[in-house]
Amino acid sequence: METLRLVLLILHILGYAALIGGLLVQMGPGDKKVNSAMRDGIGVAFLTGLALVGVLEAGDGSVNHAKVAVKLVIALVLLVLVMANLRKEKIPAGLWAGMLVLAIANVGVAVLWSPIHS
Ligand code: HEM
Repeated sequence: METLRLVLLILHILGYAALIGGLLVQMGPGDKKVNSAMRDGIGVAFLTGLALVGVLEAGDGSVNHAKVAVKLVIALVLLVLVMANLRKEKIPAGLWAGMLVLAIANVGVAVLWSPIHS
């Protein structure tokens, strides 16, 4: 089970790295849009996050449900924003900035809030 958790965690990190990378590569002047790195990144981060919760719940430690809930809501908003704007030629800079702030906020929640499982 520990091997599965670690493999999922690696995929989870690659997922949100792709999401944040897909956002940051568009920093500066110029039109913003939802690119494939953002689409695949949030998809992978979301699914592996849910799977990680499943693995932790199956373990014998306790899971911090409040933290999971906050991460789930932030990631769900990101998923909806990415999917709703996937086909648009360009998106407002404010939406791009909002998605970047949400993604970084979820990293902050993950790292700064006490461990998700004990
Ligand atoms: C944009 C979306 C997300 C970002 C940026 C993100 C970020 C992170 C980061 C930085 C870690 C490592 C934290 C650490 O090891 O201290 C982590 C771990 C974790 N994340 Fe996420 N996450 C996202 C979405 C989700 C979702 C939707 C869930 C589930 C509902 C989730 C559940 C977890 C769990 C359970 C772990 C701990 C894994 C472990 O240590 O076994 N994450 N996440």
